[in-house]
Amino acid sequence: MSAAEAREEAIHNRTAQEPDMEFFSVINSRRSVRKFKDDPVNRGDLEKIVAAGIEAPSGCNAQLRWYIIVDLPDVMDRLRSISNALRSAPAAIVLLVEPQGTKFGEFWIQDASAAMENMLLAAAALGYGGCWVEGEVRPHEDPLREVLGVPDNLRVWSVTPIGLPAESPARKPKSEFAEVTGYNGFGKG
Ligand SMILES: Cc1cc2nc3c(=O)[nH]c(=O)nc-3n(C[C@H](O)[C@H](O)[C@H](O)COP(=O)(O)O)c2cc1C
Repeated sequence: MSAAEAREEAIHNRTAQEPDMEFFSVINSRRSVRKFKDDPVNRGDLEKIVAAGIEAPSGCNAQLRWYIIVDLPDVMDRLRSISNALRSAPAAIVLLVEPQGTKFGEFWIQDASAAMENMLLAAAALGYGGCWVEGEVRPHEDPLREVLGVPDNLRVWSVTPIGLPAESPARKPKSEFAEVTGYNGFGKG
């Protein structure tokens, strides 16, 4: 086998390790869930979900993000009017950011996004539904700050409800692989 053939074979056939199919099934089955059963979520699971957020990458490892776990019904009630997705949820995780730069630029939005995605996948892996609620949080930032006692230097950035799903949303239309992907150049098959 020539060097070029060996390289070709390696590109197409060699894997770093056997794929963790459970991981890919979590990625592929996660949906935004906006209706929940009443069952409370145990704190061990909520902490696992937050731990997944903490584990996410961040620019310069600055980790300019904080988490508020909400699981008391009277505090949850204060969040419900923000979004349909929070209306029936037994618990939520509120993600806060400190909008500061690093020596290589500002990455706090990306850092928050990476944490939120990790949390949504962790929630799905544990059998819970969640939903990235960010657009609807923006007009409620000040009241949320008040309710949750958030310090002035931090922003209330996004929230995910957490609970057992009471709906099974269909997969939203997603881009076709071949339409958005190219090998070694734009649009190349
Ligand atoms: C940055 C961002 C902001 C979002 N804001 C909201 C929101 O305010 N309210 C909401 O119900 N869903 C919100 N979503 C969820 C999207 O509507 C949802 O992810 C999208 O429709 C795809 O559906 P899927 O998550 O089931 O794949 C947001 C998602 C992202 C990434």
